[in-house]
Amino acid sequence: MKIAVLPGDGIGTEIVAEAVKVLQVLDLKFEMETAPVGGAAYEAAGHPLPDATLNLAKASDAILFGAVGDWKYDKLERALRPEQAILGLRKHLGLYANFRPAICYEELVGASSLKPELIAGLDILIVRELTGDIYFGQPRGRRTAVDGHFPGAEEAFDTMRYSRPEIERIAHTAFQAARKRNKKVTSVDKANVLETFQFWKDVVTEVHKDYPDVELSHMYVDNAAMQLVKAPKSFDVIVTGNMFGDILSDEAAMLTGSIGMLPSASLNSKNQGLYEPSHGSAPDIAGKGVANPLATILSAAMMLRFSLNQATAADRIESAVKRVLASGLRTADIWSAGTTKVGTREMGDAVVAAITKTKG
Ligand code: IPM
Ligand code: MG
Repeated sequence: MKIAVLPGDGIGTEIVAEAVKVLQVLDLKFEMETAPVGGAAYEAAGHPLPDATLNLAKASDAILFGAVGDWKYDKLERALRPEQAILGLRKHLGLYANFRPAICYEELVGASSLKPELIAGLDILIVRELTGDIYFGQPRGRRTAVDGHFPGAEEAFDTMRYSRPEIERIAHTAFQAARKRNKKVTSVDKANVLETFQFWKDVVTEVHKDYPDVELSHMYVDNAAMQLVKAPKSFDVIVTGNMFGDILSDEAAMLTGSIGMLPSASLNSKNQGLYEPSHGSAPDIAGKGVANPLATILSAAMMLRFSLNQATAADRIESAVKRVLASGLRTADIWSAGTTKVGTREMGDAVVAAITKTKG
């Protein structure tokens, strides 16, 4: 088993170091190899996703990814910006299925901006299609308008598109995930306006025929955004396209009050996967040793479960994290009165200690 370790930018290096530490105490046999990605790779090799990094990722069973991005790269041409690294990895590895769980940990109910009763026990899963939609649709670009409201004016355009197989495979992913949970899927679309999402809705409805034991409902994306803050616990699995999934997953993550806690997985058809925290590179706190490493540590657990077939080791990490939270340790983002504030490294050490206290 081989893991590509791509820490990236900002707090990426600090949080990934803690996850690597945790992986190393599990007594599992795997090889880890580190490579630069994002702004760090642009500095080192002139490109956010150098060939060496991409080839390492392709040759690995799983990728442990930190975060990319920094405002200082905003002026670079699009192809050289750090974000292109993550988009390139998704595209070149075909990582079409993105899992973004939003779980509210009992101890952290108070961290949410919503009333505790709305989110206590929250456990939803967003399944976001990750390699299609307006993110990758061609054509795109700038040109002179030949029609529209201002013919002759400069304009920019992107293309929203989905093919039947792209929708079918992500629908299967969502229904199969729901089978292991509460057997409810909400497909989020904008079928009232967009042709692409009428088609999405039709195809999801067809695929659903294979899953009579799973309940399917459809919801427009604007309403879904509203229901997520009104009654988040009414959802189980949400399946949606790349763009809507990007937006709704940030909203869902914030419901829990602690985006620093949420892992994610992006898988291809061979179960090769990229695992990363749901949060970004947070350049404002980079290098200060205060970032929360738990989302990355929990991403490493997802990696063990989904790509490396080590469910027991994944359980050990997850239960260690719960015990550390129960013991009252908190990084600044989830700290509240009466708990103990710790830094990135101390939090990682505490998880390592909790794991070594239990037998493998
Ligand atoms: C995410 C991020 C990315 C996206 C960016 C960094 C390209 O927001 O993973 O949600 O838009 O998909
Ligand atoms: Mg996003």
